[in-house]
Amino acid sequence: MSFENIIFEIDGAIAVIRFNRPKALNAINPDVLKEVNQAMDQVEANSGVKVLILTGEGDKAFVAGADIAHMVNLTPLQGRKFSRDGQELMFRLEALPIPVIACVNGFALGGGTEIAMACDFIYASENAKFGQPEINLGIIPGFGGTQRLARLVGKAMARELCMTGAMISAAEAKEIGLVNKVFPPDQLWEETMKTARVLASKGKVSMKAAKQCINRGYEVDLRSGCYMEADGFAVCITSPDQKEGMSAFLEKRKPEFKGELS
Ligand code: CAA
Repeated sequence: MSFENIIFEIDGAIAVIRFNRPKALNAINPDVLKEVNQAMDQVEANSGVKVLILTGEGDKAFVAGADIAHMVNLTPLQGRKFSRDGQELMFRLEALPIPVIACVNGFALGGGTEIAMACDFIYASENAKFGQPEINLGIIPGFGGTQRLARLVGKAMARELCMTGAMISAAEAKEIGLVNKVFPPDQLWEETMKTARVLASKGKVSMKAAKQCINRGYEVDLRSGCYMEADGFAVCITSPDQKEGMSAFLEKRKPEFKGELS
């Protein structure tokens, strides 16, 4: 399947989606949402893929937000649909049973910060910029930004960013806990791939359980989250990957995880 707004590649266990609308700094419109969903269909159908990376083509932008030219004349109903379609894509990224890394190589504004936050964690280049500038356009974040930002960095910081519309540097984003690691621009891709290869070497069943327990458990009270964890632990404890992981430890060798998701 060929795409016009993204570049999609699978190299062994690692799939990469590159946002690719250079003329609009990779801004998101309904066609981009559709193509990312189609690429994710392929990721989900391919049991060999163990990690997904999202990044921007070029060296200027990850995603400079939702496409303002698309939004300028939307009706309330069309606006709600665009927002809900974007939100559903974010939920889909969070529900994917494999880890998703946001490799942020430039502007990640509005919808760009929102997509990055729906990934499992963010690696950024020193020149990346984050923010929720929607207030400057007379709107608010629509792809989950008001919700995920508050959960990730706390209510006060989320309010400050959404209310001022200020852009922050990668270093500031790391300081507030939005970004995990910051690298010089020429090292970002290799460092992201290094971590992707580490993730790809782990067991699928335990990776899915860890991701789901953290993501779903974060939405509920501690005791309910711990019940989810015990259920996840129970699934892992009889899995082929558990047999391999523990045998490898006892035999003093490196594990080779080959278990499949049931
Ligand atoms: N939508 C549509 N086009 C965009 C865009 C966007 N979000 N961001 C940039 N572009 C376009 C510009 O219009 C420009 O096009 P032309 O060359 O045809 O004029 C091109 O990309 C290059 O942009 P600039 O000339 O502005 O580049 P710059 O280096 O001077 O500035 C920038 C870069 C600071 C990122 C600036 O482009 C900017 O502020 N972009 C808008 C960022 C924004 O407000 N994002 C939030 C969108 S709303 C949203 O995301 C809602 C939601 O949650 C769903």
